[in-house]
Amino acid sequence: MLAKERQVFVPPVLQDLRAGTAELHIALEKRLPFFSDTLDIRGFEKLMQAYYGFYQPLESALQRSDTFPADFDLSPRLKCETLRRDLHAMASSADVLQSLPICQQLPMIDSSAACLGVLYVLEGATLGGQILRREIATRLDLHADNGAAFLDVYGAATGRRWRDFIDYLGVRPMDATERAAVVTAAQTTFSCFERWLERREVLV
Ligand code: HEM
Repeated sequence: MLAKERQVFVPPVLQDLRAGTAELHIALEKRLPFFSDTLDIRGFEKLMQAYYGFYQPLESALQRSDTFPADFDLSPRLKCETLRRDLHAMASSADVLQSLPICQQLPMIDSSAACLGVLYVLEGATLGGQILRREIATRLDLHADNGAAFLDVYGAATGRRWRDFIDYLGVRPMDATERAAVVTAAQTTFSCFERWLERREVLV
């Protein structure tokens, strides 16, 4: 009974996040080329290079931030190394990796609430990754060992890790102002990411 109650409980901050980002998610999802008939391995590599250009500076900013919540363990959730290995597997040389364009217009990370908003987007993206992983395996024959590990970065632990993150958000005391700051950071993360992908010319 308790387990059931835990499953259905949606913390207020998550309700706000979902309401505040649903449209942004749908808009971005529509423009990403994962399901495009014209997507080939080179196009996928270019897309993942663009992802790298966003995740790399954003993860670094979270790691450097002195407002990052002290009780949250970020390191096992960093995904940039996996992206780097994928790009390497798809033939991006060390030189190419070094010189990839890096996004400069990142969401502002000036509070713990902002960190959590950014994390919501980066962690939530692993859920859709499960669908994308299957699509890219079928379409391009790319898997964890030859360029698509990022899409399944948490593997069988994806669901558990998401629930752990939601539990963390749910037990963290937050007033309405903080909740609003979490949502603003999540919205900005979506919009910065979309703008960046657009600039890298990888969207449909
Ligand atoms: C074509 C690309 C994408 C597809 C098909 C997709 C699909 C999905 C699906 C099906 C879910 C819900 C999974 C579940 O409830 O178990 C989900 C959740 C989510 N996705 Fe995506 N997604 C895509 C891209 C992205 C991207 C690029 C981001 C952010 C960078 C993102 C962020 C999120 C977030 C934050 C959630 C959690 C929503 C919540 O339950 O609160 N998604 N996605």
